[in-house]
Amino acid sequence: MLTDRLPLALDAGAVPDGATAVAVFGPVAGQDLSPLGPERAHVVQGFRPDHDWFRAAGYRTDVAPQDSYDAAIVCVPRSKDAARGAIAEALTRTKGGPVLVDGQKDDGIESLLKECRAACTLEGSLSKAHGKLFWITGTAPEAWRAKAMPDAVEGGFVTTAGVFSADGIDPASRLLEAALPRKLPKRVVDLGAGWGYLSRAILERDGVAALHLVEADHVSLDCARRNVTDARAVFHWDDATAFGPAGGYDAVVTNPPFHRGRAPDPAIGRSFIEAAARMLTPGGRLWFVANRHLPYEKAAAELFAEVNEIAGDTAFKVIEASKPRRIRR
Ligand SMILES: C[S@@+](CC[C@H](N)C(=O)[O-])C[C@H]1O[C@@H](n2cnc3c(N)ncnc32)[C@H](O)[C@@H]1O
Repeated sequence: MLTDRLPLALDAGAVPDGATAVAVFGPVAGQDLSPLGPERAHVVQGFRPDHDWFRAAGYRTDVAPQDSYDAAIVCVPRSKDAARGAIAEALTRTKGGPVLVDGQKDDGIESLLKECRAACTLEGSLSKAHGKLFWITGTAPEAWRAKAMPDAVEGGFVTTAGVFSADGIDPASRLLEAALPRKLPKRVVDLGAGWGYLSRAILERDGVAALHLVEADHVSLDCARRNVTDARAVFHWDDATAFGPAGGYDAVVTNPPFHRGRAPDPAIGRSFIEAAARMLTPGGRLWFVANRHLPYEKAAAELFAEVNEIAGDTAFKVIEASKPRRIRR
């Protein structure tokens, strides 16, 4: 983790002594930036729960970088194209570095080091806690920035490197879309709306008066704004698990996440189902899709009086749940 490597990098002089403004791209909740401190670190984080965590810890936070910095740190995301794009951005904003690049071995940090060594000047590197932190100066190849720009995929949808299913429509979402009834109720929520595939399909159904797209990732929501231009769409950059008034909606549609970073974590999907149960009216309905092996029926049965699998294949199942139980919390 960056927490383990940052103090060593600072001791090694990776950030110049006089640096007063250091951008930190993509740190996740729990990472310790105190060696830089809130006076020097500017957190650039578009994922709402992580963004809010650093803000609550006293850091200046934004979803996009400001004009310039003395140095930058890039916490590498899962997508290689997004990582290269962030490094290119950081080199530009620091006018050539230094840019510190940090990641675990299973984030592909070794291969990024090779690429950065070939394209820029490697100033130093260190290994600790199953990962690496290296620092570079120079200019990134133009292609790194270009491949991280929004682009059109199948169906004319716009996506960007690093968002869920950036290369095209997710097969589970496609299955869920096909299983939705022709007519939907008035007030619908797409929880974890991503770049808007399900949302656009929901708005093509009869009966929908308003669709709320709730998405924690700012870049994904920006894509959704481009993909869903219907005036009935309302966009929320928000944490789905804390969204909305209780009992405020007639239907929830979701393909919930089941990863936190690289690690599978079915608890997130469960928290989406809980959030749906809370935000639905007594007659409300939830439709969701999940990998067949994920044990969500149990959670659904605790939270809804009626739970049925309405579609599926060997990989995924689509569940319809109705009559949310009012569970006191
Ligand atoms: C499996 S993807 C589905 C995306 C989109 N609905 C689709 O079908 O293509 C789950 C989405 O949930 C978002 N997400 C993850 N955690 C979230 C949270 N706590 N609140 C809101 N959205 C979240 C992810 O960024 C991702 O876009």
